[in-house]
Amino acid sequence: MVFYASPDNRAGSMPKTPNRKAVAPMSAQIEDYYSPDTFNRIKALADTQETPFLVVDTGMVDEAYNDLTQKFPTAKIYYAVKANPAPEIINLLKDKGSNFDIASIYELDRVLEHGVSPDRLSYGNTIKKSKDIRYFHERGVRLFATDSEADLRNIAKAAPGAKVYARVLTEGTHTADWPLSRKFGCQNDMAIDLMILARDLGLVPYGISFHVGSQQRDIGAWDAAIAKVSSIFERLKLEAGIELKMINMGGGFPGAYTMRAHELQTYAEEITRFLREDFGEDMPEIILEPGRSMVANAGVLVSEVVLISRKARTSLHRWVFTDVGKFSGLIETMDEAIKYPIYTEKQGELEEVVIAGPTCDSADIMYEDNKVPLPLNLAIGDRLYWFSTGAYTTSYSAIEFNGFPPLKAYYI
Ligand SMILES: Cc1ncc(COP(=O)(O)O)c(C=O)c1O
Repeated sequence: MVFYASPDNRAGSMPKTPNRKAVAPMSAQIEDYYSPDTFNRIKALADTQETPFLVVDTGMVDEAYNDLTQKFPTAKIYYAVKANPAPEIINLLKDKGSNFDIASIYELDRVLEHGVSPDRLSYGNTIKKSKDIRYFHERGVRLFATDSEADLRNIAKAAPGAKVYARVLTEGTHTADWPLSRKFGCQNDMAIDLMILARDLGLVPYGISFHVGSQQRDIGAWDAAIAKVSSIFERLKLEAGIELKMINMGGGFPGAYTMRAHELQTYAEEITRFLREDFGEDMPEIILEPGRSMVANAGVLVSEVVLISRKARTSLHRWVFTDVGKFSGLIETMDEAIKYPIYTEKQGELEEVVIAGPTCDSADIMYEDNKVPLPLNLAIGDRLYWFSTGAYTTSYSAIEFNGFPPLKAYYI
């Protein structure tokens, strides 16, 4: 007979279910994700605060930036502000010399407020109002993404003379945990037409961009995309005398979640090889727009167990409800796409549980198909630490669904 830890968790004190031995995986281990120093720093702050909240160790963001620039020494980094727009991150990356990929006038205002000069910015969203293009142009931004004729014509009117790059569709959607294809980008022929039209409209046809999908775990996705870009470069030169100058390779580099991904070193070696194969000595300017890989690992989301229950006396699985959920920062668990490592200080035999958020929406379930191994003695009031949550959490958090406030965040 196994006894469950929490005396007040009455639903949890049902008889032990069979087949628990089949559930072998460990819950997340600190040392796989954080140095002892870093985790102790995060924990020291966490112990003084009421859950839920995110703690971000900016030292890890600093390291991630150094790592990327060291591995791609000739690339220009445009941090994708959407991943985490906190002033602390913007200031840090500004001081380190980063450029910024901006998605809206609001992000633009934010980075300008922090003293970033407009020549370090790119308006990377292909979906934008004409008046927003003008807003960017008036503030000095001269680099714009596009993937449609209507948008390009708007850019020509509202940002005359600007540099434009065409975003192409990429394959590899199924190997990215958070795909971005279909909605953004256009076919090769369309990209070629757009670059020719850009020239005819008095703009500077500057380059081609792609995004292979966020948390892209198949490095081969870059191979196909770079080959595509190379053929567009060649055709534009031959067919229209246009010499493009730049490839914007977007983001896609991984955060450290539970699904295995290669080291950044392997990404860098392979992608550099693909570029050499296709461009040889004639290497264009390379832009990278990392979001997730810059900030994900630096964040730990600290939550508390609100309730543990079983749905029937004979249920094989317990439900663990926490005080964070899909609407308070964990939206990337949609379709169970991003699988965050979850750590608890409780030790002991594990059982796979369904894990869900606190709101009155039945979509607010983080993991049901991919159940999470957590100790049987986990009890109401225990803390759960969601590792690698520095990206796409605070910025996605609802402002008052069910009255819950947006996710708090502390930057150390
Ligand atoms: C245009 C653009 N660039 C860069 C990024 C950042 O990608 P990632 O978080 O995969 O690094 C995104 C993500 O949505 C994007 O839309």
